[in-house]
Amino acid sequence: MVADGRRVKSNVISTQIPIHTLYGGVVPEIASRKHIERIDAVINEALSQADMKLGEVDAVAVTYGPGLVGALLVGVAEAKAIAYALGKPLIGVNHIKGHIAANYIEDITLTPPFLCLVVSGGHTHLIRVSDYDEYTIIGRTVDDAAGEAFDKVARAIGLGYPGGPKVEEAAKKGNAKAIRFPHARVEGNPYDFSFSGLKSAVLNYINGERMKGREIVSEDIAAAFQDAVVGVLCEHAGLAIDEFGDADLALAGGVAANKALREAVKNMCEDRGVRFHCPAIGLCTDNAAMIGSAGYYEYINGRRDGWDLNAVPQLKIS
Ligand code: KG4
Ligand code: ZN
Repeated sequence: MVADGRRVKSNVISTQIPIHTLYGGVVPEIASRKHIERIDAVINEALSQADMKLGEVDAVAVTYGPGLVGALLVGVAEAKAIAYALGKPLIGVNHIKGHIAANYIEDITLTPPFLCLVVSGGHTHLIRVSDYDEYTIIGRTVDDAAGEAFDKVARAIGLGYPGGPKVEEAAKKGNAKAIRFPHARVEGNPYDFSFSGLKSAVLNYINGERMKGREIVSEDIAAAFQDAVVGVLCEHAGLAIDEFGDADLALAGGVAANKALREAVKNMCEDRGVRFHCPAIGLCTDNAAMIGSAGYYEYINGRRDGWDLNAVPQLKIS
């Protein structure tokens, strides 16, 4: 429950991490079943924590993409049912816009224009937010997302799911200088990202070491890999600041929970005299408050969805 787009009255998260850990990653079918099982209880808990009744809600915002279709459909069907029953507006929200909006909650003084580096499990985008409803993608990954690379490397070095936090933990005990992994450039656009080459470099390194009969030091691999990801993200964001001249840069998405990344991007911004923004860790990874905030700005811009709103797994931001 979010008031005026910026004030969080409640933000209830029902984690599926324990169940997906059993399978080493997200199983889409299980994810959507768990959504069905938990959604009513989560909404009731959110109302109770906000000390509100359903009838006091002004509008219902829901993620309709991008993402796993089964999970999206559960939310969309529930939101439609509630909005219809209450006779209140329904607003479908792009998940990525939600991640960006987490910054509006964190810093109530932040207003567009600003640059945003969105790094999640499914997306790696460098976006210029010129207004609440105006987004220009400056750079994007041409293959894997940064979070996906964390998850795949975690699996390769035996850390399991969820990859990002486990790699971050292991990296603290490792030496980032022990191995040099590549910082990929993408021909044609200096802001685009590519992480599949880095992932392959990690896998090749592991195979090479094993073939030589050497033990791999997973902490060093984690640290060197994380260093390469953070390095590339910082370089591209720095280039964009220099080119577009924005006074503010925001981080967003699940990977923004990574402390090494937060620290590096913050330092890079300070060196350039640019204000750095980053949501609290709990607002970086998927949550409902960020969708409420993004939904609010769509609401005041007059956007409304009909009862034919559907899940769009490949939804684009602009
Ligand atoms: O934004 P998010 O919660 O879900 C998507 O929209 O994808 O992001 C999840 C991604 C996962 O790939 C996860 O490994 C990564 O964010 N992640 C992290 C950290 N916490 C979550 N990556 C690096 N360091 C972390 N501390
Ligand atoms: Zn997300």
